[in-house]
Amino acid sequence: MKTSFENANVLITGGLGFIGSNLAIRLVKLGAQVTLVDNMLPRQGGNLFNIEPIKDNVHINFSDIRNELSMNYLVQGKDYIFHLAGQVNHVDSMRNPIKDLDINCKGTLVLLEACHHHNPDARIIFAGTRGEYGKSVHIPVGEDHPTDPVGIYAITNLTAEKMVLVYHRVKKLRGICLRITNTFGPRHQMMHDEYGVFNWFVRKAIDNDGIPVFGDGSILRDFLFIEDLLDALLLSATTHTAYGEVYNVGSGQGISFKELAEKIVAIAGTGRVEFVPFTQERKEVEPGDYVADIRKIKNVIGWAPKTSLDEGILRTINFYRRYGEHYWKK
Ligand SMILES: NC(=O)c1ccc[n+]([C@@H]2O[C@H](COP(=O)([O-])OP(=O)(O)OC[C@H]3O[C@@H](n4cnc5c(N)ncnc54)[C@H](O)[C@@H]3O)[C@@H](O)[C@H]2O)c1
Repeated sequence: MKTSFENANVLITGGLGFIGSNLAIRLVKLGAQVTLVDNMLPRQGGNLFNIEPIKDNVHINFSDIRNELSMNYLVQGKDYIFHLAGQVNHVDSMRNPIKDLDINCKGTLVLLEACHHHNPDARIIFAGTRGEYGKSVHIPVGEDHPTDPVGIYAITNLTAEKMVLVYHRVKKLRGICLRITNTFGPRHQMMHDEYGVFNWFVRKAIDNDGIPVFGDGSILRDFLFIEDLLDALLLSATTHTAYGEVYNVGSGQGISFKELAEKIVAIAGTGRVEFVPFTQERKEVEPGDYVADIRKIKNVIGWAPKTSLDEGILRTINFYRRYGEHYWKK
């Protein structure tokens, strides 16, 4: 099994989305042969502009992870499979729960079965969410914290994670599961605010609009810059002794939404903070304060975040000031 990505064959599900495209760009730089599978789910992050810098260096397959024939073929010969395709919209998961279940659970199962029958040596890296914990009983939240999701999206992610672990244990596939905190940075969708609130704040600041902070803005969140998440994904994939387990990925630092919005305004030099009441839909799926305990991934995998929040914000603002037209109509 390869321990570097040079000439490694890599499949990224959801490869045209935020995390998938940034990962693809990094992997191409590392010399990997990269295939992306994405169904361009409406209102999600799939965007061909995301892979502009590497468009001639990757294979793109516009298919659905629920399609068994496609997946049986696509997994073949792959050393690493980063499973990032999913229904990721928390609000939509409550409006259309069957679709969420179908994509996140059936889609994951189709991928696992494809690997079981056609490539049992593949290494599978699953991108789960901190939402799997639900409301924090204590902070910071370690991997042994109870899991009690507050919405369907987090339930289907938790279930998909358990599927990966069962296939690891019972069917001897190699799977590793990350519970990722709110991540921000270039190449995230900027069409609407139903997921990816950090990036939405950035859009509002760039547009010199009010940044809508729900309630009094005191809820704490742990925000991670995309480049740090890529380090975590790549290091987890190549730490072969770490498979079969769940790891938190976060900055390990909490910041309130109010402070975050103020920071974005200060760094952008535009926009203003506005306090608005929670909508009913938002209130229902809001889990409250969250800060990740990242000691396990530090100790076992040797990963730690490197980018300060200020630097991440600046790099995000610079990207969208330059390329914003590919993400929203100004
Ligand atoms: N961004 C975050 O803050 C964050 C945090 C925790 C976990 N995650 C997880 O990471 C993964 C990637 O998230 P993202 O932020 O890049 O979202 P994104 O919306 O930018 O990307 C997801 C991609 O998956 C594709 N997709 C959806 N359903 C598909 C299907 N059935 N078949 C093929 N492609 C499909 C979409 O078209 C989209 O391009 C998701 O599983 C998400 O739950 C993200």
